[in-house]
Formats: sequence, C-alpha cells, structure tokens
Amino acid sequence: MPLVPRYIRDLARYKPGKPVEEVQRELGLKEVIKLASNESSLGPSPRALSAMREAMENVHRYPDSAGYALRKKLAEKFNVKIDNVILGSGSEGIMSTILRTFLLADDEIISAADSFIGFKVLAKSTGRKIHWVPMKQHRYDLEAMTRQINEYTKIIYIANPDNPMGTYITRREFDTFYAHVPERVLIILDEAYYEFAQHLEDFPDSMTYRYDNVITLRTFSKAYGLAGIRIGYGFAHEELILNLIKVKVPFEPSYLAQVAGYAALDDHAFLDNMLSINQSGMRFYREAFSELNIAYIPSATNFITTVWKSAEQAADITKRLLEKGIIVRHLASFGWPDCIRISIGLENENRKCVQALRSILQSK
Ligand SMILES: Cc1ncc(COP(=O)(O)O)c(C=O)c1O
Repeated sequence: MPLVPRYIRDLARYKPGKPVEEVQRELGLKEVIKLASNESSLGPSPRALSAMREAMENVHRYPDSAGYALRKKLAEKFNVKIDNVILGSGSEGIMSTILRTFLLADDEIISAADSFIGFKVLAKSTGRKIHWVPMKQHRYDLEAMTRQINEYTKIIYIANPDNPMGTYITRREFDTFYAHVPERVLIILDEAYYEFAQHLEDFPDSMTYRYDNVITLRTFSKAYGLAGIRIGYGFAHEELILNLIKVKVPFEPSYLAQVAGYAALDDHAFLDNMLSINQSGMRFYREAFSELNIAYIPSATNFITTVWKSAEQAADITKRLLEKGIIVRHLASFGWPDCIRISIGLENENRKCVQALRSILQSK
C-alpha cells in the first residue's frame, strides 16, 4: 500500500515472550514459570500498589501533564533541578519523544547492532540512516562506534547495562568514548538496569557526570516491578528537557503511573529485597551453569544470557524448557540465534529452571 512508507513496511513486528496463560492452555500445564521478559519476580512494589488503589478514585481527572510531584521527588533524590527531569510512559516512551524532538531530515543515528530491541524498532521507524555497529565479545564496541561519527550524526544510543547481553561499559571506556563525541551529538544512556549494576565499582553512573549532551534514561519497570503501568524517567540539560516536554504526548505518563512511581521511590524495603533476591539468584545460576557446562555471559542486570553450540540447540532447549512449563527467551529474533536469555526469578523458580535444564541435558 503506497500510504505506508517503505521503512515502516519493512519493520519486523515485535514478538513478545509467550504469556503464561497461553502456555498453560496450549500445553495443558498447571504450573508455568515465566523467566522471559526481565520482569520483577517479586510482583510490584506494595507501596506503589496501595497508592494506586487509593488513587483509583480520581481517574476521571486528567493527570498533571507536568508531572510535578514525581519530577520534584526525583530531582531531590538525585540532586538535580526539577527542570532537569522528564517523565514518560516507560523509558521507551521518552526514547520515542527524543527521536521525535531532535532529528532533522538528514540526521543519523549510531548504536550497537542487536542491543535493546525496543530502541531498534523506534529508531527504524524514524526512517533515518542508522549505523548498527557489531558488538565485540558481547559488549558495546565504543571505539568502532566513534569511527562511525560523521557530520550528520545526531544521536548515539547506549544501553548500559545492555539487554539482551547483560554486559556493561566501564567508566574508563565511557570517558574515552565521550572525549571523541562532538558536543552537537546527543548521547542517550539507557540505564534501565541501573539499580542492579550500581554496586559495581567501574560502572559509570551517569548521574555523577551530567554533560550537556547526555540524557540518562531510567525506569520503574524492572527493580520496582511496575512494567505494566508504564513509568520511566530521564535526566538531562534543562533546555533538552524543556523541548522534550513540549513534544511528548501531553498527558503521558498516566495518573496512576505517576502515583505509582512516587510511592515506589519510598519503597526501600522492596528495592532491597529485590536486589538481594537478584544477587543470590544470579549466584545460583552461575554456579549451576558452571557445573552443567553451560556457557553464559556475566551479567549486571536481572537476567543472564546463556550461549549454546548452535541456533538449533538453543531453539531445542527453549522448546523443551517450555514443555516443562518454563518460559525463557530464545534470542533468535534479537540477532543472537545461539543464545537463550533467562530472567532471574524467585529461588524456587530458579531451582526448577535449573532442574529442568539438568534433566534435558542428561537425557541427550
Ligand atoms: C535496555 C532497556 N531499556 C529500556 C527498557 C524498557 O523500559 P520501560 O519499560 O521503562 O519502557 C528495557 C526493557 O526491557 C530494556 O531492557
């Protein structure tokens, strides 16, 4: 149909992980464990939940389009001005606004090939030229990315830590890279997994260096368990934020999302519990994988990606885990056909996943 631009026609539709109910129905299984979408294994933050329940009474009103209360709270927590903070329907909502706000007709984008698929879809839908730079040993190759910078470069996107590899760029690597990026280029630092990586000594927490051409994106979807309500936030120079706010969908994020984010920020007990469960789950998988001779990529997130001998083996393992009621993510459509990503779950979920893997490998 000539109405649809070519670059939109060519876009592949995003295939989300299989929902639990679908697997239960199709395979006739009672118990199904979903470790496929890097969601919270602990459910949502209870504080956010009760704040939303109370706020339900007011959903006949439009939300505060300036998101004042939550932006002010984030500004105080992270020691910036409210004018440096933006909210969005998830961090992906802000990514979308960024692409709509800053790109001129000939502007180009640089990112890593086969990094976060959400950005890939958004970037491709702009119809702009994009330089997808292959990763090196499952990590962003910042040196190669700087070599792609030209006079048209407008945006460089970095997921740090990355999804689906779980790897991160170090402070030193970022500093070297930053020195090669002209000031007219906007760097998006997507820190969706920040809470899980913050304890790493060489992790470059972007809040400790606020450059004028860097925008930080964070989310309540992962560590606070609010993926379904869609609330994310970002920090940048006030002029960037002012213009992003002009362009964003006026009432994004929703009222309940703003209320949930506000309450979640006070839920220290939930966050601590989440991080501790994640850490012990990560340790458990690493030990189990070493014992079972399963190759994996060390991860700074709430998931761990395993590497198999071939695409066929990865597809087969994924299918056989599914038959045992365990949904994991074969990364074929993400550009990593020999990899399977497993989200860290609760202790019993992780145990069942490893038991299933063990029995599949032993039955070969
Ligand atoms: C690297 C990365 N960025 C952003 C997101 C999306 O976050 P949000 O739910 O805030 O849109 C994800 C979710 O999987 C992600 O992995």
